[in-house]
Amino acid sequence: MAIFKVNRKETAPIDGQKPGTSGLRKKVVVFKQPNYLHNFVQSTFNALATDKVKGATIVVSGDGRYFSKDAIQIIVKMAAANGVRRVWVGKDGLLSTPAVSAVIRERVGADGSKASGAFILTASHNPGGPHEDFGIKYNMENGGPAPEAITDKIYANTKTIKEYFIAEDLPDVDISTIGVTSFSGPEGNFDVDVFDSAEDYVKLMKTIFDFQSIQKLLSSPKFSFCYDALHGVAGAYANRIFVEELGAKESSLINCTPKEDFGGGHPDPNLTYAKELVARMGLGKSSPQGEVPEFGAAADGDADRNMILGKRFFVTPSDSVAIIAANAVQAIPYFASGLKGVARSMPTSAALDVVAKNLNLKFFEVPTGWKFFGNLMDAGLCSVCGEESFGTGSDHIREKDGIWAVLAWLSILAFKNKDNINGESLVSVEDIVRQHWATYGRHYYTRYDYENVDAAAAKELMANLVKLQASLPEVNKIISGIRSDVSNVVEADEFEYKDPVDGSVSKHQGIRYLFADGSRLVFRLSGTGSEGATIRLYIEQYEKDSSNIGRDSQDALAPLVDVALKLSKMQEFTGRSAPTVIT
Ligand code: G6P
Ligand code: ZN
Repeated sequence: MAIFKVNRKETAPIDGQKPGTSGLRKKVVVFKQPNYLHNFVQSTFNALATDKVKGATIVVSGDGRYFSKDAIQIIVKMAAANGVRRVWVGKDGLLSTPAVSAVIRERVGADGSKASGAFILTASHNPGGPHEDFGIKYNMENGGPAPEAITDKIYANTKTIKEYFIAEDLPDVDISTIGVTSFSGPEGNFDVDVFDSAEDYVKLMKTIFDFQSIQKLLSSPKFSFCYDALHGVAGAYANRIFVEELGAKESSLINCTPKEDFGGGHPDPNLTYAKELVARMGLGKSSPQGEVPEFGAAADGDADRNMILGKRFFVTPSDSVAIIAANAVQAIPYFASGLKGVARSMPTSAALDVVAKNLNLKFFEVPTGWKFFGNLMDAGLCSVCGEESFGTGSDHIREKDGIWAVLAWLSILAFKNKDNINGESLVSVEDIVRQHWATYGRHYYTRYDYENVDAAAAKELMANLVKLQASLPEVNKIISGIRSDVSNVVEADEFEYKDPVDGSVSKHQGIRYLFADGSRLVFRLSGTGSEGATIRLYIEQYEKDSSNIGRDSQDALAPLVDVALKLSKMQEFTGRSAPTVIT
């Protein structure tokens, strides 16, 4: 057994290591600076309770983006030096974010060991490669992202750090081969256990869904399916679940080989970036006229996000979570005994609210960021939740889950078609969504993103919107000067949330303008970008009248968009005449 020593290295604080919505995300060149990663990792170890480090088991893996393999070796050596007992690594360093959450919660080592936390190496949906983004975040024992109390502590530590510990003579571990490598250090043994990335996750999915009924749907000659992993880590799960377990054709999978640079693409599952899938589903500008698949889906780099598509049809994430909630009890065995409650992030449309009201479910509106759902779930208050940012999930883990969302939709399709599998035609994704709108009304919804805007300009735009909120009559005067066909603003504020479980208060979580007819405008600065600022504008309008629910959403929302852009003086402040991305 190789023996290692612990080296104490002197270091000094490096600016800008404040974790954002989802960990620390920076360009690879920033992470490659001497001591940059080391400082952050040591600051994290120092922020955790001693027993979560000394003698503990931790997980280290991620979406496989460029610099992950180097980072894993560094973290392993630092873990050894900090007295960690063992590190669990997914084969090739690959574990999707939801799979990490599942591994923390479910995996039991040969000697009964359980993980106390995980370093997840991902910048989620941001591009990867030598000139792109890398990221690191820490998840806790419940499988969810570290709460603010911990990330604040990590940040504070990065500002005072003087030393870190590393086992420099620990040899690099072969992470491409499954198996345990053991070492001996000053505090005893240290193991690195490389395991199958999909095993625990697949096991968990099988306890949630009825794989047999999904298999039956997939084997129907009338059903066809297309899954795009955008070269992210979802590929490591897609083949196993959709092809091996559920019998989908291999040709159903596109871009399912994980790549360090995501094939040069932007691994974000939306109508702009999932180009190949969008074209296949008949939604592109030059899309095929003929047959297209019945169902399509995509994931982001670390496979926690999802996009759901039908034949020539886009399901908004806000509708998706509402429809899953409305059908969960009948279609998904895990929920058979009922939903404990449902939740959405503030900028997500109110489609879920209507379902909650109709089904008499507990309902929560939380700030953007999955960690807020985690608290509700730990307290047994929430079963299903979702965000407009293509995140959907449930209390089976403490992260959003891209493949879970696809299995949920396949379950709903299987359920709706259970007596119809040999019928003339199947109940389609579009049928399900239209039926939902007919029952609950439709929330027209769109999001405009202005990426990499000058940070000071973005701040000024937001400050101006807050200032305007002081006088609603003034706001309404401005609006009526812009459009006469938009209703009045009846309330305007900055969203603030008091966590019902731990009582913590989160302020400044987005600027809201609420209209008399239920429409909403929301402005927020993104917490996940790595350069400049990204302004997000969320526009929503509720339509109950069933004769008005079939419109094109951009047409339906045009008046509100006009108001939002002029009220915020978007072009004046940012110099942008158009958004970078519309979803
Ligand atoms: C991450 C979080 C999500 C959140 C999203 C917001 O993906 O996991 O919970 O919705 O970031 O991103 P933004 O760029 O809008 O801050
Ligand atoms: Zn992600």
